[in-house]
Amino acid sequence: MLNNSSKTRAELKAHCESLSGVHLRGLFSDDPGRAKRLSLSFGGLYYDFSKQRLTSETLRLLAALAEESGVGDAIRRMFAGERINPSEDRPALHVALRRSSGPFPDAGFNVMPEVAATRERMAALAGQLRGGGHDTPHIRDVVNIGIGGSDLGPKMMTYAMRSIAHPTLRVHYVSNLDGAQLAPLLQTLDPRTTLFIVVSKTFTTQETLINAQTARDWLVSNLGDAAVIQDSFAAVSSNVEKAVEFGIAPERIFPIWDWVGGRFSLWSAVGLALMIAIGPRAFDEMLRGAERMDEHFRTTPFEQNLPVVMALIGVWNTNFLGAATSAVLPYNESLRYFPPFLQQLEMESNGKSTGIDGRRLDEPASPVVWGELGNNGQHAFFQFLHQGGRLTPCDFIVAARSDYPLPNHHEALLSNCFAQSAALAFGRTEDETRASMEMLDPDRVRELLPHRMFSGNQPSSTLLLSALTPENLGALIALYEHKTFVQGRLWGINSFDQWGVELGKSLAGRILPAVREPERALALDASTQELLAFSRHYLL
Ligand code: F6P
Repeated sequence: MLNNSSKTRAELKAHCESLSGVHLRGLFSDDPGRAKRLSLSFGGLYYDFSKQRLTSETLRLLAALAEESGVGDAIRRMFAGERINPSEDRPALHVALRRSSGPFPDAGFNVMPEVAATRERMAALAGQLRGGGHDTPHIRDVVNIGIGGSDLGPKMMTYAMRSIAHPTLRVHYVSNLDGAQLAPLLQTLDPRTTLFIVVSKTFTTQETLINAQTARDWLVSNLGDAAVIQDSFAAVSSNVEKAVEFGIAPERIFPIWDWVGGRFSLWSAVGLALMIAIGPRAFDEMLRGAERMDEHFRTTPFEQNLPVVMALIGVWNTNFLGAATSAVLPYNESLRYFPPFLQQLEMESNGKSTGIDGRRLDEPASPVVWGELGNNGQHAFFQFLHQGGRLTPCDFIVAARSDYPLPNHHEALLSNCFAQSAALAFGRTEDETRASMEMLDPDRVRELLPHRMFSGNQPSSTLLLSALTPENLGALIALYEHKTFVQGRLWGINSFDQWGVELGKSLAGRILPAVREPERALALDASTQELLAFSRHYLL
């Protein structure tokens, strides 16, 4: 972490020790105003962090740590378009993608004309497809072929907003190199009414190219004419040359720029399939929600600044309380794909142990981010959260209004979500546990008591959305993007590069020829040779 020897950090350590014997039960009973004070709201979002193991004093000290670590300056530099990604020598301008007016970052280097022109082209294609326009054949299925940031964000948002999606146009996402994802999908599609969108910033990603080639072969073998590719494909890429080489018509290629990282790109043409699903107007509302969050982030003092507070709480849990993981537990079915999206956002950004200056960090940065739909998790791994004995901070996320009108489902869902965070925080004391077993005989009570007690004191926050509107969802994603950036700054790392994904890719390139040709395996390590030898027996 930055300033490992700073006075504030030492104060925080001492403060942390002073809280070591304190239980969330005590913090709540000693302070009736706690829930109101340790919560923030912004638009349709309400963030309750009163069940974290901290006090107002903790927050004050953490905000001082943020000041000292240069978080304010980092925010200013990002919005000024400075090259805050030094290892790739780029700015990080994803906030430009949701701007509604004015030049950005400044008149000298204004990316807005290109951004606006791309948004218009996206809206024109989305409008045509949604309205079944004259110059486009009637498309019934849209298949987004991409992986990582070219898949997770748009897929997550498409699912999150499926209640407002076009009623007959189906949007699918294919990412996995395993043909077991694409092959069964192709069996359900009609080649005459399917549009493939190949989304790859680099247009060199193996998974995406192999899936795209298979889709192209399928089209040609069904329609018998290579020319159909021009009508059946679109692309989103910064590598126009490669996309054209693949056979995509230049007017069907949408740009993406080097100043936006894949995991921050759903607001760009990377979100084309999403826009086709929900329509240009809802897409725009999503951008407005994100833009409002950007403004809040840029201008609000740290202790009331939602992304900053969220980042500070994460750092408190990781670096002071010693949590190794952080769980995200959405309760709405429509947020099913939020955990994998967040895993890429946080762990590809901050899963690092080298500082921005190239020096090794004293401690690794990001915790493990994991999660699942909360209600399903209750019947699977929540046992571990309640009694597993490991500190596991959780983010509960739920919308107060259901996106499908079945109130009895939603009332029960909300009560489960709120019950779990209360159970984790407050646990069940010995007396309460005894009282819950008053019908049993005393020997059985003695036997069961240790198994049925809950120590509590598990920290969590609850992020409550008024509803899963495009605007709230835009704000939610921008919130987590900025949280990730602030944490990167606090840990002293560059959140915008991802060198750690490279080694495996280049090794896969070396191993591929050896999959079929044993003599090519000789230069590989012994374990890989054995794995290949076994695999060769079964390869088709
Ligand atoms: O391998 C990681 C990564 O580069 C991600 O950062 C990115 O989102 C993903 O692959 C896809 O990259 P592309 O859009 O260039 O195909």
